[in-house]
Amino acid sequence: MAKQRKDTPETGKQSSDIQPAKGKLGIMIPGMGAVATTFVAGVEAVRKGLAKPIGSLTQMGTIRLGKRTDSRSPKIKEFVPLAGLNDLVFTGWDLFEDDMYTAASKAGVLERELLNNIKPFLSSIKPRKAVFDRNYVKKLDGTHVKKGKNKMELAEKVRDDIKEFKKSSGASRLITIWCGSTEIFLQPTAAHQSLKAFEKALQQNDEAIAPSMIYAYASLMEGVPFANGAPNLTVDLPVMRELSRQNEAPICGKDFKTGQTLMKTILAPGFKARLIGLHGWFSTNILGNRDGEVLDDPGSFKTKEESKLSVLEHILQPELYPDLYGKFSHKVRINYYPPRGDNKEGWDNIDIFGWLGYPMQIKVDFLCRDSILAAPIVLDLVLFLDLARRTPELRGIGIQEWLSFYFKSPMSAPGLYPEHDLFIQLMKLKNTLRHLRGEQLITHLGLEYYD
Ligand SMILES: NC(=O)c1ccc[n+]([C@@H]2O[C@H](COP(=O)([O-])OP(=O)(O)OC[C@H]3O[C@@H](n4cnc5c(N)ncnc54)[C@H](O)[C@@H]3O)[C@@H](O)[C@H]2O)c1
Repeated sequence: MAKQRKDTPETGKQSSDIQPAKGKLGIMIPGMGAVATTFVAGVEAVRKGLAKPIGSLTQMGTIRLGKRTDSRSPKIKEFVPLAGLNDLVFTGWDLFEDDMYTAASKAGVLERELLNNIKPFLSSIKPRKAVFDRNYVKKLDGTHVKKGKNKMELAEKVRDDIKEFKKSSGASRLITIWCGSTEIFLQPTAAHQSLKAFEKALQQNDEAIAPSMIYAYASLMEGVPFANGAPNLTVDLPVMRELSRQNEAPICGKDFKTGQTLMKTILAPGFKARLIGLHGWFSTNILGNRDGEVLDDPGSFKTKEESKLSVLEHILQPELYPDLYGKFSHKVRINYYPPRGDNKEGWDNIDIFGWLGYPMQIKVDFLCRDSILAAPIVLDLVLFLDLARRTPELRGIGIQEWLSFYFKSPMSAPGLYPEHDLFIQLMKLKNTLRHLRGEQLITHLGLEYYD
């Protein structure tokens, strides 16, 4: 029977200083496509009791507190003060004028019957004019676009939108989450190194500044937290880290972890745990939604590819296990195939080896629905970012590494490698919540049960 020896560290922190989630939470979404509409329609469907928020940790997840014998496992949403679904209000930007009902119908993810049940609500959400430039997303072209003499003026227009939404919606707090298309591959330049350099570059229309960065700058200037669902640099830049800390607007990204990469971060830690070697991992996808069309452009694909490729290196740590992972081959392909729509098919061929080097193979054929997997991530991220903003210990630290759980390319402090293992990420997330509430962290040591 368990004795009372403590083997879990106490954090010594108390939670009383987290501000309550009072009033409405405004969600602002650049990019009102498949993911955004599946998320917003889903929230409304759950609010109306038409469906359940499957896949959402904030809505369905529990958190164990204390010892296994304590039987304390509250729901996460009862353990930390999160905004309730009824308090969420929405706006967005897009270069197409479709309201959310039309956009959701075109995306073809959710069934017509469900959409019709919530049609008046969805139709009421109309996109604001986008900051858009075809040089950054070659496959798209639209007319619902802001004009300005330079990028600074465009940023000011986004800031005006943010202020207007706050006023008209009556929201007490705001969050921005990028659900826009994947932009071309860019690398940080001198323009991204400081606020001063970035603002000068905005005035000079510097090509190093992509539209997503303009939304990020505008949000952070308004003190609004920003999450990035695509692999673009966007907030993963020194200037944004500086702004985030300065204005106490938490940031996180990049690239929602869904589909094939989710599977990779579930399987690869398992191989490493059992010291199973890897010769190679070939991943290919077919998908036919607009995201697939955008990724058909080599510039946008390169951004995505970089994000997808980094995962295995970080999880498998070849430098620590040269005999197992020293020279594996890793390929990722995405093919745009219209008949599939949002229902992607991802094939993985995994060449592994075991005892004495004997080879084996695993094949994964995942018939997945990308936006169905992404929508609960969007919900959790906006609720957790809002929590971070209300928590004195988190709001001024910039990157919220504890939200790595949701991303293919998690952001981490400069010089620190990102954590990709889904299970470590989940432990980090839950331990952060325990820490905020002054609960003991859980190490899973468990010797006290056998004293
Ligand atoms: N669905 C997933 O599982 C998943 C996973 C990881 C990342 N993502 C990323 O999330 C993003 C959205 O995916 P989706 O399937 O909804 O794509 P989508 O093509 O259906 O929607 C993207 C929307 O963004 C709009 N857009 C593009 N540039 C814009 C700009 N500058 N301002 C405002 N709007 C802009 C497009 O017009 C489009 O409506 C993509 O970047 C995708 O790579 C999706």
